[in-house]
Formats: sequence, C-alpha cells, structure tokens
Amino acid sequence: MDKSPFEIYETPDGSARFYFSHSDEKFTTGILVLQPGAALPKHNRPHAIENDVQIGGKCLMTIFGENENNQEVELSAAEGVGIPKGQWHIHGNPYNEVSVTLFKLEGDILEVMRILREMNKKVESNLEKNTHFPTTP
Ligand SMILES: [Fe+2]
Repeated sequence: MDKSPFEIYETPDGSARFYFSHSDEKFTTGILVLQPGAALPKHNRPHAIENDVQIGGKCLMTIFGENENNQEVELSAAEGVGIPKGQWHIHGNPYNEVSVTLFKLEGDILEVMRILREMNKKVESNLEKNTHFPTTP
C-alpha cells in the first residue's frame, strides 16, 4: 500500500508530470507540469468535468468543436477553464517557460487513472523519509 499522500508520474519522454493529491470515484485533483514544447495527447473525460487553473507559466488549451470549429484558450496565472464532460481537448505548452496547471476533475476517472499509472513512470518522493522529525523539548 502506498502510504504517500501524493502520487507522481512522468511521461516516458519526460515532457510532462502529473502530481496527484487525491483521486477517488468522486473527484481527482493535482497538478500538471508541462515542459516547454510539450503537449498532452488529445483526450476527453466522459464521466467528469475538468476544471483547470493556471499556477505558473502559460498553457494553451485547444478545445475541439464540431466541424473543425476549434477554440484556443491561453491560460496565464490564475486564469482557468471548465471543460464539460466528454469535451475533447489538448493541454499544450508552446512557450519558453514551464507550465504549471492545477486540475480538479469532478466525477469518476478511476479507469483513466489506472491506465495513467500503467503508461507512465512513477516518480518517488522523499516525503516519507522527511516525515519523522525529532520532537522539540
Ligand atoms: Fe485534460
């Protein structure tokens, strides 16, 4: 059993990291870090609303509409986007600095999480080692 309150995964090419702080059938939340030039594959979440808010750097969201009617939304710090269930989109970072995005998916993405854990490299944190400090007198 993983005792850490966080789960960290990196894509095989090292261009993206997912830092999860919570995931269950009701909601999943964490942070996405995209290196300059990185983009996640086009995806949708049929069972969850995806809320994203930018923390650092910028992110270019491509929202796919019908008949190639796509929309690009650039997120700067504190700006956000709410993506409805099933809406196809891409998170991209065509900029020169690292992009940091906080996400909260409201709904069940447990199957997505299962595949994500399988497809990506788990990053170990030293948090467990740094949990037991001597008590002060
Ligand atoms: Fe997404």
